[in-house]
Amino acid sequence: MNKEDLKSLNQLPQSYWLASTDPTDYSSLSEDISVDIAIIGAGMAGILCAYLLHKENLSMAVLDAGKILGGTTSHTTAKITSQHGLIYDKLKKQMGFDLAKQYADANENAIKQIKDIIDQHHIDCDYSPQSAYIYAEDENNAEKIEDEVKTASELGIKASFIDEIPFPISIKAGMKFDNQAQFHPRKFLLRLAEIIGNEGVRIYENSRAVDLEDGEKITITTEQGKKVTANKVIIASHYPFYNKPGMYFSRIYTERTYILAIAAKEKYPGGMYINAENPSRSLRELDTKDGQLILVVGENHKTGQGRDMANHYRNLIDFADRIFTVEDIPYRWSTQDCMTLDGIPYIGYYKQDTPDILIATGFQKWGMTNSMVAANIIRDLITDGSSQWQDVYNPSRKNIIGAAKTFIVENVDVAKHLISGKISPLPENVEVSPGEGKVFEHDGERIGAYRDEQGKLFLVNTTCTHMGCELNWNSAERSWDCPCHGSRFTFSGNIIDGPAVSPLTAENDVNTVEKIIKDEF
Ligand code: FES
Repeated sequence: MNKEDLKSLNQLPQSYWLASTDPTDYSSLSEDISVDIAIIGAGMAGILCAYLLHKENLSMAVLDAGKILGGTTSHTTAKITSQHGLIYDKLKKQMGFDLAKQYADANENAIKQIKDIIDQHHIDCDYSPQSAYIYAEDENNAEKIEDEVKTASELGIKASFIDEIPFPISIKAGMKFDNQAQFHPRKFLLRLAEIIGNEGVRIYENSRAVDLEDGEKITITTEQGKKVTANKVIIASHYPFYNKPGMYFSRIYTERTYILAIAAKEKYPGGMYINAENPSRSLRELDTKDGQLILVVGENHKTGQGRDMANHYRNLIDFADRIFTVEDIPYRWSTQDCMTLDGIPYIGYYKQDTPDILIATGFQKWGMTNSMVAANIIRDLITDGSSQWQDVYNPSRKNIIGAAKTFIVENVDVAKHLISGKISPLPENVEVSPGEGKVFEHDGERIGAYRDEQGKLFLVNTTCTHMGCELNWNSAERSWDCPCHGSRFTFSGNIIDGPAVSPLTAENDVNTVEKIIKDEF
């Protein structure tokens, strides 16, 4: 792929992490089973929970809706860092010193623990110690950096000021955290999955959990109708699919972020960089068998909102062009993150009165250390009944409730706008060209149409199967995206990201709709 190909976005996205590792082939659940612990979701958090808990001699099953480690874990930037943007000073002001210290300690510990696991099992996963940097290009953020360095240092993090960065970007202030790292997340986690699989943990792919019944024991039902009965359940499915109690849909929103892997003429100077402004920009390098690549990352926005998704990649190319002599762009992909209302993940008991159902979600964009933190907290809650870091991550913390009410109002408003077409108006000319997706209205129904490069038309009902919001077409990823809670569907209606557990209804009579398009437009 070269820059011109990418500008026209003729090729589908491909994650480097997926392209550089073998696909997995675990079987799906084909019978009813009973275990001590069932884990829903085999991303980094799910696999690390299984890794820590299997040492406690508990029988365990891990279910994934698709392929293990195939979601956010395979689309991350893979920075192992406790530097989660400008978080610590805000956290101290919002929640107090003690909870800010819990967050700092939990994440600093996670950095060391990941390295210990890599060393213990001799895992070849391109691990590389790095420093992490934040830079500010405006005065307002320069002041925030000053506060952040001070607070991070008080919390025990090795933080210091910098006044320049090794790129042609003029900065007003900057900061550095030492003793951070980067790695290849799939190489690390595929090996861990293999280790725990060999030691008796049952791992199932293509086994989407669609129902959960709480009782004396907890019963999970998969979309194939198979049942897992468990004493404890850990929901680590990114956006929680189990929504009725807990109202997680009222306190999580999702954001998409775009990533380019570029080959540049210049050698990358090392370090993991992120700016303090919007639009966000971050940089890190990765060494591949074909030479060094640089990840250029940013352009985050709420899922399902915005008009021209492809433009986000173009903006990143322009940014990369200003810093490097870009010679090739072999990979591009995007990722989806669950965001919480106060910037801290929800890790712990699903609700205060559900001691047997636990959850790990809302890692913001910092899933590497927060997944390790989640595994520690959940292991400790299950085995000891408490964790030293449980308070700051408590999903039922008080400050969330008021914020959730405001969030519902804002989200409903956004959804209304989308449905009425104010943000994404229905097109006037509904001719659908190859590679294009559009929404049109027929007899009061919204129908989504996508035509592939071979001319085949795919039609879906664009009402989200989660809670009925209307989907928008994502031109960059060729998917149907929900603005409400971030479910995403392929152009033919299959689920890419939850919380939806049912695919879109396809409009099967393509010939009839093809005729409608011709007749009406
Ligand atoms: Fe909730 Fe679409 S994801 S309505």
